[in-house]
Amino acid sequence: MKVCVIGTGYVGLVTGVCLAHTGHQVICVDNNEAKVTLMQSGKSPIYEPGLSEIMQVAMQNGCLQFTSDLGAGVEHGDVLFIAVGTPPLPTGESDTQYVEAVARGIGQHLKTGYKVIVNKSTVPIGSGDWVRRIVLDAISEQQEMSTVSMAAQFDVVSNPEFLREGSAVYDTFNPDRMVLGGSSQKALDQMQALYAPIIHRVFAENPDLPPVPVVTTDLSSAETIKYAANAFLATKISFINEIANICDRVGADVTQVAQGIGLDSRIGSKFLQAGIGWGGSCFPKDVAALVHTADDYGYSAELLKAAVSANSRQRVLAIEKLQQVLGILKGKTIGLLGLTFKPDTDDMRDTPALDLITQLSRLGAKVKAYDPMYAEGSHGFHKAPEQVILTATPDELAENCDAVVLVTDWQQFRELDYTGLAARMNTAIIIDGRNYLNPDEMVAAGFYYVGIGRPSAGSPITATRSLRQQAAA
Ligand code: NAD
Ligand code: UGA
Repeated sequence: MKVCVIGTGYVGLVTGVCLAHTGHQVICVDNNEAKVTLMQSGKSPIYEPGLSEIMQVAMQNGCLQFTSDLGAGVEHGDVLFIAVGTPPLPTGESDTQYVEAVARGIGQHLKTGYKVIVNKSTVPIGSGDWVRRIVLDAISEQQEMSTVSMAAQFDVVSNPEFLREGSAVYDTFNPDRMVLGGSSQKALDQMQALYAPIIHRVFAENPDLPPVPVVTTDLSSAETIKYAANAFLATKISFINEIANICDRVGADVTQVAQGIGLDSRIGSKFLQAGIGWGGSCFPKDVAALVHTADDYGYSAELLKAAVSANSRQRVLAIEKLQQVLGILKGKTIGLLGLTFKPDTDDMRDTPALDLITQLSRLGAKVKAYDPMYAEGSHGFHKAPEQVILTATPDELAENCDAVVLVTDWQQFRELDYTGLAARMNTAIIIDGRNYLNPDEMVAAGFYYVGIGRPSAGSPITATRSLRQQAAA
């Protein structure tokens, strides 16, 4: 099938590349010329495991092209995906200007034949009908200006995306379910045909599993499913963080508690990892957008508001813990292990690291950071905040630090030479913001270990450099 994907970010590029991998003819459109030039040269503007490899193969096979020419993409595609960003506005609602611009652009370029326009972006509930209106208006404007009568026909489908950054390619080929919202059976059938190789697990890790369940529903329900899924997951994390904060006070260990409750199949063990809060480009904005929609319809979504406020507090919990151990932070040097909002991504949008950098700088601390994606400075199209000193290695990070905070659970942070890091620090204190490290191993390496909702280990006194040196002598 001929496909056009408009917007080549984490969702659009992965969608376009994976559909090309399954054999469709895909043109990806982006209005960022620099990104398009990079992609045309076979390079991905984002880091996502496995993406570059299949992108290059699909390009070599002639299944995948990149352009900034929306008209060419619209003419090519039988299915047109809208996958542009919907970032948050200060009010909490989503900024839909990019979706609007693309919908208008599609309408301006529609000529003849039938197209399925797919809302892949996470859009406010009701956007399916709104997009249809914008496209119709653009077609009418086009017809008023033209002497040739046009016979463009289209339907709008909502097809929310559930991939996670860091495992986006895997998630695309191994989805838990697909959601298709719309009122046109013809359009829904076309979407099922498009996704047939994925539904039948041709590219899945386990091809013997039953087909991927497809939830076919109306536009508004599909749009609401996307927000409800993210809101539930974010609330689940806020819940375990709340339990962690109680554990901190009563001396229990939240990692044990999470295991104990997660084995109950009604609760489930996923998304029970307590830490310094949820971030990223979607949970914060999508929960805020759902709260805003509820407010618009006269309903105050108290549970969701509580999940958000618990998370805001959690995101600066590491500062409270640093103050408890170090006292005054002014003049101290704090190292951040990790900047991205989760491992295996270069994405720093709304990462908890940003809150820590802002607050620590405000309190007069010097902030250094090491992140594998930012070891050589700012990465691709992302920029690290100016206040933070980026270091090229974990050793450089540890040099003369008064404490380090593990912000991101990158696999390689499990395997660092922590004894070597402790030797470089003024005080070998580690705040494990993801409960990712083994407390006993940290103490053996010379650290005073502080987790989130689990007992601290070691002693802050013996973690000071002079005492460590005396002990070593
Ligand atoms: P992104 O910011 O990474 O990418 C958006 C892309 O759209 C950019 O490359 C930008 O240049 C391009 N763009 C903007 N306006 C354009 C226009 N008029 N024409 C062509 N291209 C244009 O965004 P993202 O993270 O991929 O998210 C896209 C949507 O998918 C959002 O609504 C988001 O909520 C949703 N979503 C994201 C994820 C995720 O993991 N990032 C997962 C599920 C859903
Ligand atoms: C999330 C959802 O998991 C995807 O299904 C969805 O498609 C996507 O948002 C989206 O709409 O953009 P993502 O933001 O990539 O995916 O990452 P997650 O793995 O969900 O993690 C989000 C945040 O929650 C991270 O900051 C992570 O550290 C935190 N988290 C996650 C926890 O603190 N504890 C957990 O147990 C799990």
